Parts: sequence; C-alpha cells; structure tokens
Amino acid sequence: MKPPSPPSLPLIGHIPAFRRDVLGLIIRSVREYGDVIRFKLGPHPIYLVNHPDAILHVLKKNAVNYDKDTRSTRFLRDIASESLLTSNGEAWRQRRQHLQPAFHRQAISGFESIMREEAEVLVRSWKNQSQVNASADLTTTTFSIVARSLFGSDVARSTLASLAAPIAQVLTEAFTRLGSLTGRKSRRFVSAMSQLNAVVDSVIAARTQAPDSPDLLELIRLGNPDPRAVHDESVSFLLAGHETTANALSWLLAYLAHHPDEQARCAQDPAALDRAFQESLRLSPPIWIIERHALGPDEISGYTIPQNASVAICTYTVHRHPDFWDAPDTFQPDRFLQPVPAAFIPFGLGPRVCIGKEFALMEARIIAGALLENFQFTPMSSTFPEAETGITLRIKNDLHLILKPRRP
Ligand code: HEM
Repeated sequence: MKPPSPPSLPLIGHIPAFRRDVLGLIIRSVREYGDVIRFKLGPHPIYLVNHPDAILHVLKKNAVNYDKDTRSTRFLRDIASESLLTSNGEAWRQRRQHLQPAFHRQAISGFESIMREEAEVLVRSWKNQSQVNASADLTTTTFSIVARSLFGSDVARSTLASLAAPIAQVLTEAFTRLGSLTGRKSRRFVSAMSQLNAVVDSVIAARTQAPDSPDLLELIRLGNPDPRAVHDESVSFLLAGHETTANALSWLLAYLAHHPDEQARCAQDPAALDRAFQESLRLSPPIWIIERHALGPDEISGYTIPQNASVAICTYTVHRHPDFWDAPDTFQPDRFLQPVPAAFIPFGLGPRVCIGKEFALMEARIIAGALLENFQFTPMSSTFPEAETGITLRIKNDLHLILKPRRP
C-alpha cells in the first residue's frame, strides 16, 4: 500500500510548497495524513517517516537496507568527497571504526583546553560591545575549535580565517544548488573550493614537516595515510563540526534571551543549562532533516517502500510530535527532568549517529557557561526569530543580541 500524499501540482508535485515553507508543509501534512507520507519532488518521490518506531526501524534495526547515497549527500560529496560523512558500506565502516575512539567522552577531554581558550576569546571580544551578531561570532568560535582540534592548537589565526571564508562560501553555495533544479556548480563555488583545498593542503603539509601534539589529523593519517583521503576527511570534519554547533548555541541563546527567568537559572546552575540546551535542540534541531536511500524494498508501518526510494526523517516535526510531547511548541526545559522520549533524535540514531555528539555537548556547555557567567542577554526584538532551512537550521537574518555585564 502506498502512503498518503497531500494534494500537489502535476509534474512538479510539491516542489513549490517545499520551496515556500518546507517545515510548515511537513507539519501540516503529518497532522492531516499521519506518520508516513509520500511527497513528490518532481519525478522523485520522498517517503517521510515521523513516528519514533518507524525511525528506529530505518536508522537502526534495518539500517543495512538504507545508505546515504542521497541527493543532499551527493552535494556534500562535491565538498568533502569520500569521507566519514559521505561514504557508505565497508568504506564507511572502516572509517567509523578507526575514528570512533577519538570521540569517546574521555578522549575528547583532550580538546577541552582549546574549547576554554576559544570561549575566553569570545567573552573578551564581547566585553567591549553592547550589541552583537551572536550567530556570526559563534560560527567563528566553533570553527576555530574544530580547526584547532583537527590541525593542532597552534594553527595561526590568519590560517583559521583563510579556511573559514571559503568554507562559509561553499556551504551557502551547496544549499543554493540543492534547491535548484539543475544543481549546477556556480563559478563562486568552484573558486571557493579551490581556495579551500589549497589552504587545507598547505596546513596538512606544514604538519607533515612539524608534527607535535597529537591531534585529529594524526589519527586520520594513521587510518589512511593516502594524502587525498587525509585531505577529504579533514574537510569533512571542518564541515560537519562547526555550523551545527554554532546554530545549536545561537538557538540556545535566542531561547534564553526570550526567557529571562530560565536565563538567570542557567547562569547559576549547570544542570539547568544542560536541560535548556536539550530543549533548544528539541525545538530547533540544527540537523532538521536526515535522509536515506533504500537499497531494497521495505515495509514501514504497513506501507510499501520501493527499492531506491528516498526516505526522510524531519527531526523538527518528530521533536514536536504531540503524542510524545506536552505543549510541543513551548520552551519548557524542565520536561527533560523526565526520561527522554524516543522522539528526541537531534544527533540521529543507530550506526550513523553523530560521531561528534560528546564533542558538541562539551563545547556547548563550555561556551554557553562562559557567556552566561559574564553577560545578560536581551533580544533586539520582542518577536522570536524565524528559522531558515539551509543545510542546517539557521536563524533567519542571524541572532542579534543586546548585552549587559552580569557582574558589573
Ligand atoms: C549540536 C551539534 C551537532 C548536531 C546537532 C549534529 C547532528 C548530527 C546528526 C543528526 C548526524 C547524523 C546524520 C545522519 O544520520 O544522516 C550527524 C553526523 C555526523 N556528525 Fe554531527 N552534529 C553536531 C556536531 C558535530 C561535531 C562537533 C562534529 C565533529 C567534530 C560532528 C561530526 C559528524 C560526522 C562526521 C557525522 C557523520 C557520521 C557518520 O556518518 O558516521 N558533528 N551529526
């Protein structure tokens, strides 16, 4: 049996509705048609699954039937080529097995000093400002953290800046291409990619000549010394490891700026801050959609999933599923005092769960903790910011905040 499909236009199907307001479309559709829906993006059907049991089936129990040979991964492959983020099958398994130990909770404590230093740099730069573009500054901070963890803590600031600029450019361009019909690479994309590749190669070459303290790069090299593979894996970590965390932190600050009582509580109590971060990841998950490609036919909740189908999981709507969350649209961090429902998957699930989860959680705790210790945040506008669905879920037009010192 085919899953239900909301009304759509001939030939182009749901493309215009997706472009207009993809989150609104999915939210309305699951409310009206249930937890398995068939959308049509032109000739390509997409099967959306929204129930935690079905998600567990796709991402974990029957994960062997689903890989990441998807449209969005193909675009990422133009940037990060074959890497942990983009590979499949045995090639992926070997990479994951090799890199996993570096991301265990104990292992990442080696990166704590980098996170603390960068948090301090951010606090210092905010101390002489009364208004900030928090999204932009947090992107710089999280980028510096992942790049220094990867290439060594002594990477020069100028090198970080010359890596950050093309990375930002290729991310923006990749998303524009994802939304276009042809998916053609723009001249700007090609030029940003060659700039990025050149800087990454020169940083890697410099480390070959002078390796010192162990960093992620050394570990990547041990797994696969082929220079091309080392290059691609490095780019994939730069890509996967900063925008997500920057967005997660921006959303957290947005929620706290609009909930001053919670903000005051989080400034006093790290456990309250952890709960607020979870609640912010629930309402505004940076990876708002997870996509898979079905290697063979399957059945999900009684519906047929054909071979080669695209299957999508929208974490944003799963996290607001009314069967699993009371007052799903309201910011209530204390709901995380209760056991966490299965309908909470900000870092994914199963074998391809985010490898950087503990890294991101530690980073968020350190940065948000340092910011709350030093500042009180007030929003520039009483309206809560809107979400923008890019490769990650960004704050539309960035998060601008008014700062006051917490302890004058
Ligand atoms: C709040 C921050 C973050 C969020 C919300 C997040 C979310 C996710 C999600 C949902 C996935 C799974 C995607 C899928 O199943 O298709 C994923 C995968 C991944 N993440 Fe993260 N991530 C975050 C931070 C990080 C960091 C800091 C790093 C690296 C330092 C990282 C590296 C990766 C990599 C390499 C993968 C692919 C893993 C694989 O396929 O084996 N992430 N992330």
